[in-house]
Amino acid sequence: MSGRSCLAVVLAAGEGTRMRSDLPKVLHEVAGLPMVGHVAEAARQAGVDRLAVVVGRGAEAVSAALSTHDVATHLQTERLGTGHAVLAARDTIALGFDDVLVLFGDTPLLSTETIERARSALASGADIAVVGFHAADPTGYGRLIVEGETVSAIREHKDASPEERKITLCNGGVMAISGHRILGWLDRIGNDNAKREYYLTDIVAIAVADGARVNVVEAPAEDLMGANTRVELAELEAAWQRRRRRELMLSGVTMQAPETVFLAYDTAIEPDAFLEPNVVFGPGVTIGAGSVIRAFSHLEGATVAADCEIGPFARLRPGADLSEKAKVGNFCEVKKAKVGKGAKINHLTYIGDAEIGAKSNIGAGTITCNYDGINKHLTSIGAGVFVGSNTSLVAPVAIGDGAYIASGSVITENVSADALALGRARQTEKPGRAADIRARNEAVKAGRSAGK
Ligand code: UD1
Ligand code: CA
Repeated sequence: MSGRSCLAVVLAAGEGTRMRSDLPKVLHEVAGLPMVGHVAEAARQAGVDRLAVVVGRGAEAVSAALSTHDVATHLQTERLGTGHAVLAARDTIALGFDDVLVLFGDTPLLSTETIERARSALASGADIAVVGFHAADPTGYGRLIVEGETVSAIREHKDASPEERKITLCNGGVMAISGHRILGWLDRIGNDNAKREYYLTDIVAIAVADGARVNVVEAPAEDLMGANTRVELAELEAAWQRRRRRELMLSGVTMQAPETVFLAYDTAIEPDAFLEPNVVFGPGVTIGAGSVIRAFSHLEGATVAADCEIGPFARLRPGADLSEKAKVGNFCEVKKAKVGKGAKINHLTYIGDAEIGAKSNIGAGTITCNYDGINKHLTSIGAGVFVGSNTSLVAPVAIGDGAYIASGSVITENVSADALALGRARQTEKPGRAADIRARNEAVKAGRSAGK
C-alpha cells in the first residue's frame, strides 16, 4: 500500500480455556485452516510485509501452522493484557515499520478489505485507526468515545460509566498504529483499571494527549467475530461457509443447495461449474469450468479440469488429477492418479497410484491392487484401453494403448498394445447337472415331510 512498510502483530496468547482443548485456541480450524492462518492470510493479502505472532503456549505448533508466512514468534510468558501482549513483540516492532497492525488470532473472518481500510486511514494522516462496529449487545466490549471525527478514548466495559455503557459503537480489536510512535505509547500504558491489566485500548487516550489523531473505521460485526467455545467455532465456520459460497456463486458457480456444500479455505472453482447438493471439499481442490459435481461426493487434494463429471457418491483423494471431460462415477475412489482426457471410471472402482490414458474405459468393479503390504506400486494404463468389469490390476503393471482386458481378469503381467488379455479360470459346462441336483434336493425335502 503506497510504499508504506507494515508489520502485523497477531495476538494469540489467550488461554482459550473454554475450548476445553489441548490444542492452542488459534489452531482450531475453520474451513480446514487454523484460525490464525486465516488472519495471517488476510494480512498478507492486505500487503503486510512481516508478521509477528504473540503466543502463550504451543509456540512451536503455532509457528509451524504459519510456516508459509514470514513470521516472528514471540512468547508472552504472563498474560497481563493486550497492551502487554503487543509489547512481547517489541524486538520486531523496533525493526521499524511505517504501520503496525494489531490483530487477534481468533478472528478468522477478518477481511482483507477491513485491514486495507485501517491502513488507508494511516496513509491519509491518522496516527491510529481503530476498527469499530455497532454491537446489538455491546456488553463486554470496549466502547469508542468519539468526539466529532475522531476517537478520544476507548473505555473497557468494566471501567465504563452507565452513560458510556449506552454507547453501541465498540472496539473490534483491530488497530492500525503509527509504527514510529507505537513503542513510546505502549510503554506508557499502566494497569490502573478494573482488571489490573495493561489494556492496549489505553493507547488511544495516551496518543490523543500527545496531539495524535485517532480515526475510527467501521466494519461489519461479522468481520470481527471471535471464537471462545466450540459452539462459537461452529458459528464462525457457518458464517465463513456462507460468505465463500456466496462469492463463488457470484463468480459464476451454480450450487443447487448452497447450504449443503462445504468448502475449504483454498477451494478454487471456475465459472459454470455445477454443484449438486451435499458436496464436501477438503483442502487443495481445483475444479475446472463446466464440470459437474454430483451429490454426495467428497474431494480433497484433487485437480479436476474442465467439463468433467464426478459422482454421485464419488471420492477423489489427494493426487487425483483429472483431464478434461473425464468421468468418475458412483462409488468410485481415485487417489494419486492421472486420468486422461475423456477417460471413464464409472462404477464401483478403486484407482490408486495409476495413470490412465485418454479415452480409456475402466469397467465396473475394477481395482488397482496398488499396495503389497509394504510398498505402493504404479498401474499404468495407456490410451483407448478397455478394462472389462471386475478386473484386478496387480501393480506394478502396464497396459499398452488400445488393449482390451476381459472381464473378471486378474492381471499380473504387462499387456501389449492392442492385445486382448484374459486372466481368469476357463468356464466348463456339465450338461444336465443342474436338473440332477434339483431332483435330489426335492427327494430329500419329500423324505423330511413324510417323517414328521
Ligand atoms: C478486547 C478489547 C476490547 C474489544 C474486544 C473485541 C482490550 C483491553 N480490550 O477485549 O476493547 O472490544 O477485545 O473483541 O484490548 N491476549 C493476549 N495476551 C494477553 C491478553 C490477551 O495474547 O495478555 C490476546 C487474546 O488471546 C485475544 C486478544 O488478545 O486474542 C484479545 O484478548 P481478550 O482477553 O479476548 O480481550 P477482550 O476482553 O475480549
Ligand atoms: Ca475477546
